[in-house]
Amino acid sequence: AGVFTYDPGFTSTASCDSTITYIDGDKGELLHRGYPIDQLAEQSNYLEVCYLLMHGELPSKDEYEKFVNTITNHTMIHEQMHHFFRGFRRDAHPMATMVGVVGAMSAFYHDSTDIADPRQREIASHRLIAKMPTIAAMAYKYSIGQPFVYPRNDLSYAANFLHMCFAVPADEYKVDPILARAMDRIFTLHADHEQNASTSTVRLASSSGANPFACIAAGIACLWGPAHGGANQACLEMLREIGSVDRIPEFIERAKDKNDPFRLMGFGHRVYKNFDPRAKVMKQSADEVLDLLGIEDNPTLQVAKELERIALEDPYFKEKKLYPNVDFYSGIILDAMGFPTSMFTPIFALARTVGWISQWSEQLADPQLKIGRPRQLYLGEMARDYTPLEER
Ligand code: CMC
Repeated sequence: AGVFTYDPGFTSTASCDSTITYIDGDKGELLHRGYPIDQLAEQSNYLEVCYLLMHGELPSKDEYEKFVNTITNHTMIHEQMHHFFRGFRRDAHPMATMVGVVGAMSAFYHDSTDIADPRQREIASHRLIAKMPTIAAMAYKYSIGQPFVYPRNDLSYAANFLHMCFAVPADEYKVDPILARAMDRIFTLHADHEQNASTSTVRLASSSGANPFACIAAGIACLWGPAHGGANQACLEMLREIGSVDRIPEFIERAKDKNDPFRLMGFGHRVYKNFDPRAKVMKQSADEVLDLLGIEDNPTLQVAKELERIALEDPYFKEKKLYPNVDFYSGIILDAMGFPTSMFTPIFALARTVGWISQWSEQLADPQLKIGRPRQLYLGEMARDYTPLEER
């Protein structure tokens, strides 16, 4: 027995201390190591943000070049890992493939499983950040029956990912710099988000001393759920199902109906009760990208904007403080880039890897680290005597 705080969903439990990411949900503020997300999204780039999250400070020019070089040198995966992809059904969801392949990395990079050595922890982090785009792109290529495309080290992180997803052997593929910039911004906006469900999963898995690849595979598995990272796929599918602005009121009514499990995907957040600062940048990006691609009158974007307008004026959404979150507009950009909806959550996963691994490193460096072991509120039977089968 003992006295425990009952806090289902951990709405008021701080599970750790951290110096990585700060969120003020009432103000709609998100800071990475103190730097506001909108400044990072507009002025920095994903790999610089990775360095910042991992090391706590922005890199000097030399540090930045060295870091980019290191990540670039780790982009290939072990050739034998190709067999893992081939073991999956052709129509497997890329997230299912990623959970398996990332978990399997621990069978290939044994040195990185030595978590007691800080240098090995750093190498594991570099490997994961570098190889995730390769793995995500391979999962995609496999799902559409195209040959894998090897990483190209002359391209930037985002451009290389687009190359691995969209290049085909028969054609010369040139990455559009506008798309590469938009891709990089999407990665930046997803880089970290303090103790969300998948990050807490990574930390809990790691608290037992599990290896980094196993911990990140656990994070990917958690992220896949539609209440978390899976919302970006669910959101675009919902916007498509709504189809035209005149059907919006019907869906708004459904979202408000307590007897209908339907929720507006891409709406609401556990912490943000004012607005999600990532959604603001994402909305602006969606406008810019569609404009630059010459896509006029995108019906999905029209439905999204009108849905946002109507929901923000509706007393139900106002009272419950439900605003568009990061997943609301990202799918529109990814769709315009040519990604199928099944790739939206893998893209989230690859971008969030740096957040997971930075939190993992921070946790392992903590001398107070304890295994995560929540208690429960037991509501079952108390001790009673066993009855033999014939007497039941
Ligand atoms: N549509 C309609 N009603 C909603 C929605 C929504 N999207 N979100 C919350 N509500 C209602 C909910 O029914 C509840 O009402 P009541 O108090 O009457 O029971 C109230 O608002 C509070 O909801 P909750 O589920 O208790 O809040 P939570 O903090 O546990 O959940 C959430 C947060 C993000 C899981 C939830 O808002 C949701 O399911 N949103 C849709 C899925 C989504 O967009 N997820 C992405 C989150 S951001 C990125 C990420 O984490 O990956």
